[in-house]
Amino acid sequence: MALLGNKKEKTYDTGDLKVPVSLGVIMDGNGRWATNRHLPRSAGHKVGAENLKELCRNCVRYGVKYLTVYAFSTENWARPQPEVDFLMKLFVELFDKYDEELAEEGIRVRFTGDDSELPKKVREVCKTAEERSKNRPNMQLIVALNYGGRREILNSCRQIAEKVKAGEIDPSDITEQMLSDNMYLPDVPDPELIIRPSGEMRLSNFLLWESAYSEFWVSDTLWPDFGYEHLTQAFRDFASRDRRFGGLSK
Ligand code: IPE
Ligand code: IPE
Ligand code: MG
Repeated sequence: MALLGNKKEKTYDTGDLKVPVSLGVIMDGNGRWATNRHLPRSAGHKVGAENLKELCRNCVRYGVKYLTVYAFSTENWARPQPEVDFLMKLFVELFDKYDEELAEEGIRVRFTGDDSELPKKVREVCKTAEERSKNRPNMQLIVALNYGGRREILNSCRQIAEKVKAGEIDPSDITEQMLSDNMYLPDVPDPELIIRPSGEMRLSNFLLWESAYSEFWVSDTLWPDFGYEHLTQAFRDFASRDRRFGGLSK
């Protein structure tokens, strides 16, 4: 079955693919991409940021409904200050600059993470981007910014602990569903598939709670070079995964 072509009139062949409703992507490898070209790491972040638009376009065409991308972790503050500053500046520029194209594609933008530590300007830009895009119908782009899976679980536990303290519930009333309901964006389905470019075989604190039964797909391609072909291959491989959820094959 051929889906709509995009601006370059690509054919989206979904014959033997499985497209996840909810997809996670760890956008890793910007620094190495730049270093390989004798460029400063910031150049890799710039090209990586541009590449997010291409991923969004392709995901919309394929029919992904929720795309969660890891942009900055709670651990990334450990980088040299100039790199952190560059990234924060990039986030401020990005969501204004991209809005026209995101609007054209009908993409709603949301953020997940601990925004209390982000610079005020970044928080403002995020809020504006969320506000102006909230009625767009095609796909939700969820940007994980100062996001840490452990912090998210901790935050959920604290909210539940408050209810215990107030006498509203007993510790024995706490359920897995209650923890899920107190995550940052409880309405976003757990990702069925998580893609990590750059060859690393780890989660780096991404969606720890939500990824309990996610399928993983890694590639040696660095994020700035990750394109339509890689996404298609990931969906092709996803189609042949046997998701047993602890049970037996069908
Ligand atoms: C991912 O690329 C971007 C962020 C973490 C913000 P990296 O900057 O981690 O690139 P590598 O892993 O050093 O190549
Ligand atoms: C994960 O990449 C975070 C993002 C892509 C935003 P890192 O480059 O920070 O992960 P580690 O340090 O290699 O685990
Ligand atoms: Mg990295």
